[in-house]
Amino acid sequence: MLFKARNSVLVGLILLSLPVSGFAAGSAEAGKQKNAICMACHGPVGISPAFIYPNLAGQVPGYIADQLAAYKAGDRVSPIMAPFILALTEEDMVDLDAYYSSLEPAEQAVPEPLSITALEGQAIYRGGFAEREVAACMSCHGPSGHGIPALYPRVSAQHKEYLETQLLAFKKGERTGYNDIMSEIAFSLSEQQITALSEYMAGLN
Ligand code: HEC
Ligand code: HEC
Repeated sequence: MLFKARNSVLVGLILLSLPVSGFAAGSAEAGKQKNAICMACHGPVGISPAFIYPNLAGQVPGYIADQLAAYKAGDRVSPIMAPFILALTEEDMVDLDAYYSSLEPAEQAVPEPLSITALEGQAIYRGGFAEREVAACMSCHGPSGHGIPALYPRVSAQHKEYLETQLLAFKKGERTGYNDIMSEIAFSLSEQQITALSEYMAGLN
């Protein structure tokens, strides 16, 4: 009942946002309500208090809905996320997507000067790793890690530990995405390079 009432109030907002965003399917206002259950881990405004939970604020539109669908389909597996995914409808996913992508990304404290490790990461991020035919990360994730909607996620404003865990999961074949791009890339990187890249990306704003 409550859900129904809330939706009818939101119709006006959804229509208003149509011409502006081009991403018509989701309502950020509805997503904000639905974040109540998610914010225990991902924070009240998509910036998580603990480094094992990813920041979601400022993610490129489309990516979050896509990842939620991947969890639900079992294409991406996380025992921690699993109980919260089951109840989500497609509408919930696009609403949550609209909400998180509308939020300001986390402000990173950029270490100056960059550590030796981060400099190693920067070289691969900007120039790739020719020896193993790895393309520059910035060609898909952007020079400052802001991503390109909707396929290429933002990798800046993110916790180092989360980035590292994901790259290792791609490398080991534990995270399979909607294509093999990241698995192939991560497979060609050493664990040391993955640590270096994660440290560099975590300092990008
Ligand atoms: C108990 C803690 C917890 C709760 C509650 C939770 N999450 Fe998560 N979430 C996680 C963890 C841990 C991960 C990383 C999992 C992985 O490695 O795939 C994650 C990953 C994600 C991702 C993938 C992010 C990316 O950059 O690829 C999205 C999107 C997400 N959660 C959305 C949600 C939404 C929406 C809800 C509420 C319906 C929610 N989460 C509830 C812990 C939680
Ligand atoms: C050809 C395009 C392309 C290149 C080059 C690329 N990526 Fe990606 N990256 C993707 C795509 C697509 C995804 C989403 C994968 C999925 O979930 O299916 C992704 C996802 C990621 C994620 C997970 C983000 C999250 O929120 O969970 C990280 C971290 C990442 N890439 C880091 C890198 C690094 C580091 C490099 C360079 C060594 C790189 N990527 C190069 C396309 C690319």
